[in-house]
Amino acid sequence: MDKIVIRGGTPLNGAIPIGGAKNAALPLMAAALLSEQPLRLSNLPHLADISTMAHLLGEMGVSIAMEGDAPGGGNMGRVFALNASGLSSTEAPYELVRRMRASVLVLGPLVAREGHARVSLPGGCAIGTRPVDLHLKALQAMGAEIELTEGYIEARAPNGLKGGHVLFPNVTVGGTENILMAACLAKGDTVISNAAREPEVTDLAHCLVAMGAKIEGIGTDTLKVQGVTTLHGAEHSVVPDRIEMGSYAVAAAVTGGDVVLKGGRLELMEAVANVLKSAGVAVSQETDGVRITRNNGALKGFDVMTEPYPGFPTDMQAQMMVLASVADGASMITETIFENRYMHVPELVRMGANINVHGSSAIVRGVKKLSGAQVMATDLRASSSLVLAGLVAEGETVINRVYHLDRGYERLEEKLAACGADILRVRENG
Ligand code: EPZ
Repeated sequence: MDKIVIRGGTPLNGAIPIGGAKNAALPLMAAALLSEQPLRLSNLPHLADISTMAHLLGEMGVSIAMEGDAPGGGNMGRVFALNASGLSSTEAPYELVRRMRASVLVLGPLVAREGHARVSLPGGCAIGTRPVDLHLKALQAMGAEIELTEGYIEARAPNGLKGGHVLFPNVTVGGTENILMAACLAKGDTVISNAAREPEVTDLAHCLVAMGAKIEGIGTDTLKVQGVTTLHGAEHSVVPDRIEMGSYAVAAAVTGGDVVLKGGRLELMEAVANVLKSAGVAVSQETDGVRITRNNGALKGFDVMTEPYPGFPTDMQAQMMVLASVADGASMITETIFENRYMHVPELVRMGANINVHGSSAIVRGVKKLSGAQVMATDLRASSSLVLAGLVAEGETVINRVYHLDRGYERLEEKLAACGADILRVRENG
């Protein structure tokens, strides 16, 4: 398995290109199931999860033409034209759902268009139990019959889904996406209350509208959908990845650098930008992207609590903890979205961080320096936090289990090295 080796201490300077958001691309790809005509998605990131979704859709009979330049040249698929005119299966097997929970996003589109879906129940994962009960209850409210058998969700709506009022008791990003897609082809009107407002949900809604869906309230917590009988083909460019932006923003901040996140949009990361500013980092929108600067001056501690958008994203909690670890004074970080998202803490502590977790909160007391170590993490964002810690630590950090990073960060080591980081990937076979 590959490893990433970092020798820390170099300020990052330069430009980092920001890709399309993984968490927008995945539901957008699932949306192709809603139409018999091709959906052409551009600005797709080149990531393992995108390949897994392509594989899953391919197994269902969706044909995928790959176009566009890939890094290093070649037609490797910045652009996918997905054509679901010849659907041959409505099943998402355990083997693929196990690899990627977002596979469950095919559920809503399949029941809506085909009246049937059989999707493996995703299990728990490294950051929490992560049930899909809210997706299922909402589909039931739209007339689907749901049965759980042999580890699978069997959903049926032989006469089609019907519109209704779906009130999510808690904000769920995937649940909102699944139901929004389903509602587009349901008979009658659907109102989704307490809908997730994440930019990835908004991006999906805009794409669905381009496909002929009738959606009001986009960007708010109440989505009103007037069902239509068919959706047509469309072209859509995936929104920039705000978590990739945030992660590299922290990289620039902790190393005391000056980086432009090219193609980035500040309005997508306001909550993260506000915390960075309170810590003493300059953040500004420039013509070609978002600029992050900390040329001099110490970082200051801060308090942050994760919340649904537009609050501070849980997907930036681990990375922000690295900033807190090297800031002056104490910071308090509270995780409210997932119950087990502090798996990076013991690894950061091994690198010299002073962190105490009490329930859902972590008290982080800033230290003068972190020191390099052999580390590994159990999920994507935790792995990303270890890269950031490695960039600021004295000495050598070796990050194992790099496949987690490859699920969410495209060419991470190349992008950081281009800004002066001493980072390389050691490829190992087997
Ligand atoms: C999405 O996951 C993202 N994944 C996650 O990003 C992100 O952390 C999360 O939203 C929150 O922002 C994708 O978009 C592919 P939720 P999702 O449904 O949709 C509970 C990353 O690192 N819940 O909003 O699965 C759930 O357990 C990943 O890129 C239920 O109880 O998240 C959690 O506590 C990790 N029942 C909370 O709601 C349900 O039916 C929010 O989950 C659904 C969710």
